[in-house]
Amino acid sequence: MKNIVITGGAGFIGSHVVRLFVNKYPEYNIINLDKLTYAGNLANLKDVEDKPNYKFVKMDICDFDAFYQLMQDEQIDGIIHLAAESHVDRSIKDPFTFARTNVMGTLSLLQAAKLYWESLPEKYEGKRFYHISTDEVYGALEMTHPEGIEPPFTTTASSSEHHLAYGEDFFYETTKYNPHSPYSASKASSDHFVRAYHDTYGMPTIVTNCSNNYGPYQFPEKLIPLFINNIRHRKPLPVYGKGENVRDWLYVVDHARAIDVIFHNGKVAETYNIGGFNEWKNIDIIKTVIATVDRLLGRPEGADLDLITYVTDRLGHDARYAIDSTKLQKELGWEPSLQFEEGIEKTVKWYLENEAWMDNITSGEYEKYYEDMYKNR
Ligand code: NAD
Ligand code: TYD
Repeated sequence: MKNIVITGGAGFIGSHVVRLFVNKYPEYNIINLDKLTYAGNLANLKDVEDKPNYKFVKMDICDFDAFYQLMQDEQIDGIIHLAAESHVDRSIKDPFTFARTNVMGTLSLLQAAKLYWESLPEKYEGKRFYHISTDEVYGALEMTHPEGIEPPFTTTASSSEHHLAYGEDFFYETTKYNPHSPYSASKASSDHFVRAYHDTYGMPTIVTNCSNNYGPYQFPEKLIPLFINNIRHRKPLPVYGKGENVRDWLYVVDHARAIDVIFHNGKVAETYNIGGFNEWKNIDIIKTVIATVDRLLGRPEGADLDLITYVTDRLGHDARYAIDSTKLQKELGWEPSLQFEEGIEKTVKWYLENEAWMDNITSGEYEKYYEDMYKNR
């Protein structure tokens, strides 16, 4: 493979994948295809924009004709598809945009890739369509625990070490899809289309389902960057419900490393779950973030705990996500490189050192969106 399109490369995870591929594979031509929605930001890629093996193309993944033309002009061998509407709260307010981009956009890419690759003498030989999805398609896990043991309890589900868990069950590659939010329903639908293109036409596809990511360049509508920024400005921290929901967190660079390994060595038609066996209750994450920001800003310990503000719960709020990534760890040898404490420290430091990046996003339009979103909660 030589000519690779990465969709959604100007977004949070996509920018880390583009950076990794551009730096690690000078022999590849990396095309970052992105519509630059509110979530797309070319400032995320300042350090690679002048590299000879990198090119940015502004395009909507729903534009079938434009993408089919690009496939031919650039003789695309591989697609790593991350472009999507990605925020659950937005999907609750505006589900149509999620169906359009996540379902129709993915279908449009698949069909254009199919027509182009089937027109070549070698057909699908050496080609790959890699679709990046989420653990949210599996639905929500219960906070069950073994008789007599209060969660969190330790388990050895991880191939490497013991970890805390808030329930006995995990999401496995074989877990039945059961999405609850318009976001996860749209991602589930796109996953089904990708697999259908393998099963029907023989397209070499791969799907991965990853847990919640955190790290630099995440749009500040998501929990961790939003809260870091609010703590910095001493604004309220809107905790949904009781803050008891559990999420499984992975440092974004470790997700990008997994994508690299799977794109090159993953088996066609397989699904791989990606996660770091790292479950946290929201309220515990929030307290850790507050403590880290306060320490790094030289504020007294616990100074900003009073910013915690319990607000009306998210509609249909999934209780617990927990990924079992044993298959990826055993079959392809991937492991997360960072412990969570280390990752959070790096992340908070990055946002505090990159105030200009944050301030640029949180002015203007965003300010209004944020006010509308949290007004009357
Ligand atoms: P993001 O919202 O930060 O970035 C999405 C990118 O897609 C943006 O650059 C945006 O401009 C682009 N985009 C949106 N609609 C487009 C369209 N119609 N045409 C072209 N480009 C378009 O998202 P993210 O958090 O980086 O997530 C990337 C992918 O990873 C998504 O598919 C998401 O479902 C998946 N994922 C995210 C997480 C997470 O925790 N963030 C976890 C697992 C999987
Ligand atoms: P989020 O970052 O939106 O990711 P996802 O919904 O995809 O898991 O939210 C992470 C968790 O934090 C989720 O349980 C919802 C909660 N949350 C809050 O309590 N307050 C907030 O302002 C946000 C954005 C999220």
